[in-house]
Amino acid sequence: MCGIVGYVGARDCTQVLLDSLAKLEYRGYDSAGIAVLDNDVITTCKAQGRLANLEERIRQQGGIKGHCGIGHTRWATHGEPSDINSHPHGNAVVSIVHNGIIENYKTLKERLEKKGYTFISQTDTEIVAKLLDYYYNGDPIEAIRKTEARIEGSYALGILFRDFPNTIYSIRKDSPLIVAKGDGEAFIASDVPAILKYTKEYYLLESGEIAILHEGVASFMTLDGDPIEKELLVANWDMEAAEKGGYEHFMLKEIHEQPTAIKTTIAPRIVDGMPDIEECGVTLQMLKNFNNIFVVACGTAMHAGIVGKYVIEKLARVSVTVDVASEFRYRNPILSPDDLVILVSQSGETADTKEALRLSKDRGAKTLAIVNVKGSSIAREADYVLYTHAGPEISVASTKAYMVQIAVFYLIAFELAYAKGQIDEDECRRLTKELSSVPKFIDVILAQKDNCQYVASKLVNAENLLYIGRGLDYALSMEGSLKLKEISYIHSESYAAGELKHGTISLVTDQMPVIAVVTQRDLFDKTISNVKEVKARKAQTFIVTHQYINIDDDVADYKIGIPTIDDMLMPMLAVVPLQLIAYYTSVLRGNDVDKPRNLAKSVTVE
Ligand code: G6P
Repeated sequence: MCGIVGYVGARDCTQVLLDSLAKLEYRGYDSAGIAVLDNDVITTCKAQGRLANLEERIRQQGGIKGHCGIGHTRWATHGEPSDINSHPHGNAVVSIVHNGIIENYKTLKERLEKKGYTFISQTDTEIVAKLLDYYYNGDPIEAIRKTEARIEGSYALGILFRDFPNTIYSIRKDSPLIVAKGDGEAFIASDVPAILKYTKEYYLLESGEIAILHEGVASFMTLDGDPIEKELLVANWDMEAAEKGGYEHFMLKEIHEQPTAIKTTIAPRIVDGMPDIEECGVTLQMLKNFNNIFVVACGTAMHAGIVGKYVIEKLARVSVTVDVASEFRYRNPILSPDDLVILVSQSGETADTKEALRLSKDRGAKTLAIVNVKGSSIAREADYVLYTHAGPEISVASTKAYMVQIAVFYLIAFELAYAKGQIDEDECRRLTKELSSVPKFIDVILAQKDNCQYVASKLVNAENLLYIGRGLDYALSMEGSLKLKEISYIHSESYAAGELKHGTISLVTDQMPVIAVVTQRDLFDKTISNVKEVKARKAQTFIVTHQYINIDDDVADYKIGIPTIDDMLMPMLAVVPLQLIAYYTSVLRGNDVDKPRNLAKSVTVE
């Protein structure tokens, strides 16, 4: 979603802002803009569309000189994507960039209109800019404090005041913001990758704190004006991790990073061949005593939770309920202090997941976060955290984050099953060893990716598609279908193979290719029967299954064979061809793979 950057220092500010905004492109956006403060003048430039449009417009303006400025990539919420609705907003005196949503903007707008203000955009952000202007009386902090007291909702703000050269002010509530420290220079950013080119050192701004970046030095104060000493953090991601490294797209790079991501995530949690997640504070005893487990997440992270449900229920015999966070929040869930709610999130900032966490805590349940981004809101607010170590995921379509989320679910399932006495130590060791062998098998699948390219060439003109499977294969086909939808824009659905004939099979024709995931050998014959049913209705069929299993030509038009490990772990292998099929289909359709239309990497609004 929207991205914020800001810079004060000796460098050419416009260049730094554009570089840093480029690093936030992955969050998803539809317009961009910058404002630079130089010699008591705020110069603003904005453009709908990609950053290249903004660069071109700045060039046409003859460049913008200065050493202090703010920038923004906007993902439209209030008002369509347009030049006017793009940030920064403001006037000659004050200029702001904003992430989040101002919920009481209509009331504030009416009041400001009565005081003679007029508005040119449809955004909630413009109201904040006008409010700051209204309260500004020569004292920026006073204006910020009074504005803060009036606005409701979530926000991270970067603010310039014309009268205060070489200074950026910042404040936030519920939308993340970091303040980074360079050598005689300082930055604000909504996400770490934006600043990695310049520095790795940063502070996390907390809700209700004001940051002041003056002459390249950052300081912090409470709303009451008391100074705050903050801990300086060091990003453990490097620039390389946020670059394409020779791959055509981030998505392809991230698919290839999965073996390493799995190793980095599971290795510290395997002790003497046994799973061990106690590092997060959840002991075997606690794990054993939870009555119910809920998994709450959005998008791909929710799909990881569904795999988690199947595996935990199968192995540990503990019931698991998986909810989409936006539904969980409003369905008045029944929770007690003996329940565990697992929140899964790559970014750790997804608004609905964050609110689901708060609701769970309010109701007394214990909360465990499976999160990739260190220090993110969900990681900080949950009772316990298990970080996934996928490194930065830049492509909007999540791949490696999903992979490590399910790896963590396997560890939880093994440990819980052992704690409950559902599997003995030998079995627990065997499963843990199998899990450790996954990376080398993924390498084998990656080496045969031309199979997936071939399948993509067959799908490229499809308008609709079905993914089918049973059990864990069904859980996985949900993710395969979402991946394809997100980046190829082909309509697809995943269906429980056995449920197909209760309605959906009426859609099957020679124009409806079907991808069947058939890795669960106890369900093999049943799923193959379902494949035959769609084949009989002239669907083109593609099967992802074990390499060693032969599939007759009259069942599948094409088979993608993958190596065999314990069926329980097959989702970790079978997801890779599904990711690659989606990737190559998107490439063949000429789409913007890493930045699909309308989507945002981190959804920080409800
Ligand atoms: C967005 C992204 C998805 C992601 C989902 C949840 O929709 O485009 O890729 O799965 O948010 O994000 P999270 O950061 O909570 O995992």
